[in-house]
Amino acid sequence: MSIKVLLGVSGGIAAYKAAELVRRLREEGAQVRVVMTTAALSFITPLTLQALSGNAVRSDLLDPRAEAGMDHIELARWADLVLVAPATADLMARLAAGLADDLLTTLVLATTAPLVLAPAMNHRMWLHPATRENLARLQKRGVRVLGPAQGDQACGEWGPGRMLEPTEILDVLPLRVSSDLAGKRVMVTAGPTREALDPVRYIGNRSSGRMGYALASSLAARGAELVLVSGPSALSAPHGVDLVRVETALEMEAAVMERIGDCDLFVAAAAVSDYRPRDRAGEKIKKDRTELDLHLVKNPDILARVAALPEGPFTVGFAAETERLEEHALDKLEKKGLNMIAANLVGGRTGGFERNDNALLVLWSGGRKSLPLMSKTRLADALTDVVVERYLAYLSSQDS
Ligand code: PMT
Repeated sequence: MSIKVLLGVSGGIAAYKAAELVRRLREEGAQVRVVMTTAALSFITPLTLQALSGNAVRSDLLDPRAEAGMDHIELARWADLVLVAPATADLMARLAAGLADDLLTTLVLATTAPLVLAPAMNHRMWLHPATRENLARLQKRGVRVLGPAQGDQACGEWGPGRMLEPTEILDVLPLRVSSDLAGKRVMVTAGPTREALDPVRYIGNRSSGRMGYALASSLAARGAELVLVSGPSALSAPHGVDLVRVETALEMEAAVMERIGDCDLFVAAAAVSDYRPRDRAGEKIKKDRTELDLHLVKNPDILARVAALPEGPFTVGFAAETERLEEHALDKLEKKGLNMIAANLVGGRTGGFERNDNALLVLWSGGRKSLPLMSKTRLADALTDVVVERYLAYLSSQDS
């Protein structure tokens, strides 16, 4: 189902990028309604955004004609996502303070949809302590902030404050919504694990958490109740997701097993360390030896444990391989007893760990689907389509 995006446009020079944003959102199949602040009207005409969105643009809170149609509360309910681009320093301050002094700020207070901001302002305004405080308050409330980028500014100065380009914004927004998974509880694992050698060093890997967090977001957008168990990652919790942070493989195993009982689906995107040091030194290991032997012991396989549960959830594993992708992935699918596996080539120039893009080969008994290289957000949407399709087919095969 196409996502309904309420695009808020506030008054900065980057408002001209809103036109391109609307066009691209429509190309992706989104329904778009635009709300402008009074200041935004000085930078771009409502007519442009109306023509591109196919819907009347609103800017006035107390407009009797508009309130007779889609009133502001209905508009707040209509949205699956509220995106404010550009978000000026003034708008961020008003949102942080919880003001409702115009249509856009009122809508933000009245909606339950996730709020995403793409800030744009002079770099000194962005770095001002007042803006930093407002940003921190908004992020603490779960508001997602995209950018800003560094670069030349309209004022002739250079620094952080440029609004991201419309394509960069689109790359990181989940754009599909449905209620296919309504009433279902889904658990996703993401990120790396860290296995301590001593108080300052650990064995880890390059996973950033991006793939798993994007998947959690996409699955939540299909109506699922979502638990995300994550190893150390710089990412913040996606909207509507219950985030459980862990550090080691043993902690991840405990967090998963404690909560898996009532889950319908389990998706393991984490890069769990296969081994951990047998002993953790109490003090920092000294570098006085020319050689150092580490004794490692195997970590439990969390995915295999979940797949072996009697009456367990529908399980989707990942396979990160550097060669013979399909062969190794099929081997894991079978040996771990999974319903599906998403295999990715890692260690090359594209895709895999850390990067923003990835490609997957999805395999299940009797089927396969290749998902080409794309942003991890788009890929998560595409993988979620396949998972939902296979899961619903599995449920109907259980019924018959
Ligand atoms: O986080 P990013 O930077 O976005 O990168 C994404 C990713 C490359 C980490 C992700 O796409 C991915 O491939 N995740 C799985 C990485 C991995 O550990 O693969 P594996 O082939 O070693 O493990 C197979 C499966 O078993 C995985 O689902 C893994 O989560 C699971 N596993 C592995 C070991 C273990 N002890 N417990 C597990 O649950």
